[in-house]
Amino acid sequence: MSNWHDVAAQADLFEDAGIAVTVNGQELALFSVAGQVYAIDNACSHGPAKLCEGWVVGEEIECPLHQGRFSLQTGEATFGPACESVKIWPVRIENGRVWVSVDQSLS
Ligand code: FES
Repeated sequence: MSNWHDVAAQADLFEDAGIAVTVNGQELALFSVAGQVYAIDNACSHGPAKLCEGWVVGEEIECPLHQGRFSLQTGEATFGPACESVKIWPVRIENGRVWVSVDQSLS
């Protein structure tokens, strides 16, 4: 059984901008940064904010509410007031589609 989910067209992604997708009832944010696509929990671990509405700073996402930051590679909270990590999910690109697996997070 395949646990990969086709969540978006790669063409839907714009450099340094997030979009929200839902996989198995779970909301994720996709970001395309320097040619790499990342899938991260959309809910900030600090409060009621959606990370898809945040800003990309290098390879981190800055929360739009209190400007906490998370690594897009590890999910680690890198700047306060965020202090709890968020989950990062495996992504693969195939034939112009973005596939995400939510079986086991990378973080
Ligand atoms: Fe994201 Fe506070 S809600 S840093």
